[in-house]
Amino acid sequence: MEKYIGMLPPMGWNSWNTFTWEISDGLIRQAADAMVSEGLRDAGYEYIVTDDCWSEKQRDSSGRLVPDKRKFPDGIKAVADYVHSKGLKFGIYSCAGTHTCAGHPGSFEHEFTDAETFAQWGVDYLKYDYCYKPDGIPGDVLYRRMSAALRGSGRDILFSACNWGADNVYEWIKGAGAHMFRSTGDIQDSWASIKRIALSQTDKQCFGGPFCHNDMDMLVVGMYGGSNNEFINAATDDQFANREGKGIGGCTDTEYRTHFALWAIMGSPLMIGCDIRKMSPATKEILTNRDVISINQDIECRGPYRISQWNNPENLFALVKPLHDGSFGIGLFNLGDRTGEMSLQFWDLGISSAAGRGLELYDCYSHEKAGVFSERFAANIPPHDSMMLKAKVVRL
Ligand code: GAL
Repeated sequence: MEKYIGMLPPMGWNSWNTFTWEISDGLIRQAADAMVSEGLRDAGYEYIVTDDCWSEKQRDSSGRLVPDKRKFPDGIKAVADYVHSKGLKFGIYSCAGTHTCAGHPGSFEHEFTDAETFAQWGVDYLKYDYCYKPDGIPGDVLYRRMSAALRGSGRDILFSACNWGADNVYEWIKGAGAHMFRSTGDIQDSWASIKRIALSQTDKQCFGGPFCHNDMDMLVVGMYGGSNNEFINAATDDQFANREGKGIGGCTDTEYRTHFALWAIMGSPLMIGCDIRKMSPATKEILTNRDVISINQDIECRGPYRISQWNNPENLFALVKPLHDGSFGIGLFNLGDRTGEMSLQFWDLGISSAAGRGLELYDCYSHEKAGVFSERFAANIPPHDSMMLKAKVVRL
């Protein structure tokens, strides 16, 4: 089947989390190289996205955006061409307001010119922010405008809205034409941030779906506190702040694995934010876990439902995502600070042993069959850890 743009949660890499304004032609090319050499492209990652700070502070005399001459001396098209030559797609960033969050020109009142420029440069993806939005203009109108401009640009350009969940975005973003929409403020490289974002979206799963995905922000997997982004490192309420040898912020590999599992099963785009030129073996294993990725990329894009553990409902829960072939993706999560027993009662999935049915489980972390179970599956989950399972309904 042909894959339409934005049909499934987009997968790729974005420059912001690790590099902020320190981006360049060389960095983007190296990211594209790493995407291929590290096996990320083969695992499904596709977009290389250049975030804020790629342009000069002023438009040219004809009102066009100008690539920063020092960072991108050969312009953006040359970089996009290189990314394409690696079998990847190229993304760029602009803003619905007068300026981007870092103070570069925004696309307000230049939407059609900018969309045309991006199309000429070979852009395949536009992340569209919400800073400096004129107060009197409704956000939905601005996203509709850029969507119309992109759709009329003559090139397939994926539209990634980034208004941080503001102004009831859930209600209008699908109609505005975006393929994905940020639903939260910026992520930080800390367990507290991962937990906060995940919990804020488990009751919002009905809003995402094919061609319009709930974007819980870029992944921090593999950052280990290594970024020049002060915000992402500002782990003020994080118990792991200043941990030895990790700088400020940073998570354990267990926490990163749980983060990836949450984003995957909740249907978020999977946009990597670490330095993919220097991934640890654990980072690579987490990001290229094909079983977990396949749950994220299921063609029906159904949001999971949540089943909370009765005696610790806030921190211990399962997310169950029906998949297109009749099986389920199931995540068991312990976001609390103590080991907890999560018991998944199959009755809650509609599977009753009285009807002679049970579940055959497959462990997406060990890549092994876990066996056939009737009535329930129980596991002790260590703090901040998770299990990802695929489940098939079987006759007992
Ligand atoms: C924020 C956005 C971040 C990043 C940044 C760039 O508004 O949420 O993901 O794009 O702007 O300035």
